[in-house]
Amino acid sequence: MDLLDRLRLDVPVAQAGMGSIAGGRLAAAVAAAGGLGTIGLRPPEELRAAIRRVRDEAAERAVVVNLLMPGVRRRHVAMCLSERIDAAVIAFGGDAGLVRELHEAGVFVIVMVGTEAQAQEAMAWDADALIAQGCEAGGHLLGTVAALKFLPRAVEIAAGRPVLMAGGVACSADTAAAIAAGASGVVAGTRFLLTVESEAQEEYRQRVLTAEKTIETCLFGLGWPARHRVVPNAVTQRWCFPDGTARRLPALINARSGPLGRLAPESSTAAAIKVQRSFLPLFSPLAPLEGMPESWADRAALYAGESALRIAETVTAKQAVAELSGC
Ligand SMILES: Cc1cc2nc3c(=O)[nH]c(=O)nc-3n(C[C@H](O)[C@H](O)[C@H](O)COP(=O)(O)O)c2cc1C
Repeated sequence: MDLLDRLRLDVPVAQAGMGSIAGGRLAAAVAAAGGLGTIGLRPPEELRAAIRRVRDEAAERAVVVNLLMPGVRRRHVAMCLSERIDAAVIAFGGDAGLVRELHEAGVFVIVMVGTEAQAQEAMAWDADALIAQGCEAGGHLLGTVAALKFLPRAVEIAAGRPVLMAGGVACSADTAAAIAAGASGVVAGTRFLLTVESEAQEEYRQRVLTAEKTIETCLFGLGWPARHRVVPNAVTQRWCFPDGTARRLPALINARSGPLGRLAPESSTAAAIKVQRSFLPLFSPLAPLEGMPESWADRAALYAGESALRIAETVTAKQAVAELSGC
């Protein structure tokens, strides 16, 4: 299957769904530039508005929604189906029933995986394509080894179905290396976080642009105790060991907080971050968004991948697509 034809792409470059950071504005700009724009998960009514925005601003392109499973409720899936999206990216969960339901509505289903076992499971669900994520990726992590190392295994397991590589993609040479190793395309998150169309807080973007390192941690795991990669800030300095591992107290609290995530209402990101304090080791997975006070960059998760260390400036989404594709 030719992924570019199937998803009406000009270039083999996808923008990762990134929760509230990746709204209709970013996804539409990426899609209009010929890449795969992906709407991040958000409350169903906002999802509808974002879907319609992509359809209006990039009429000929595919409309894609990231189903970040820990946050997905029935209403999100119903909205995707009633708005007749073209493709969905399932990540951090999912099952055969969901894939079947999406297929019955004609949706192309991509599943992000980070291990061979996850890749096999996704193929057993009948996924149309995989995203092979490496451990250098930004945000939440499925990957346990570098993307280029995992990719050939994922390609073998996918047995002819397309595989995109996520993690460590900052320029066209990275895209070329992924394609040479068997990928049908690449997925970039951090590169698109650092675009004018992303909805990340300005101070957060500056911290990522000037970062000297990223760390893998579980600190921002209240309600979703999963591994993630961030740029260090005041709270990671206070509550993590130098290698990123969360200290005992936050690690214990987060490990027991899973059920909270299912119970939590879709409260606004601002309300949740507002109550976070550096002296209290209760840190949600929410990232600072545009318009939030600058100081919040020191109390919330600054998700970014290792690719951040090779990205020098904020550009437009169109420029990012061009830089990544070499076109
Ligand atoms: C700011 C940020 C937020 C992210 N949020 C999500 C998300 O909501 N859903 C998801 O499936 N992946 C998410 N990811 C991970 C991406 O899917 C992808 O694996 C990762 O960005 C690739 O690494 P890179 O950031 O170095 O390009 C996020 C990544 C970043 C940087």
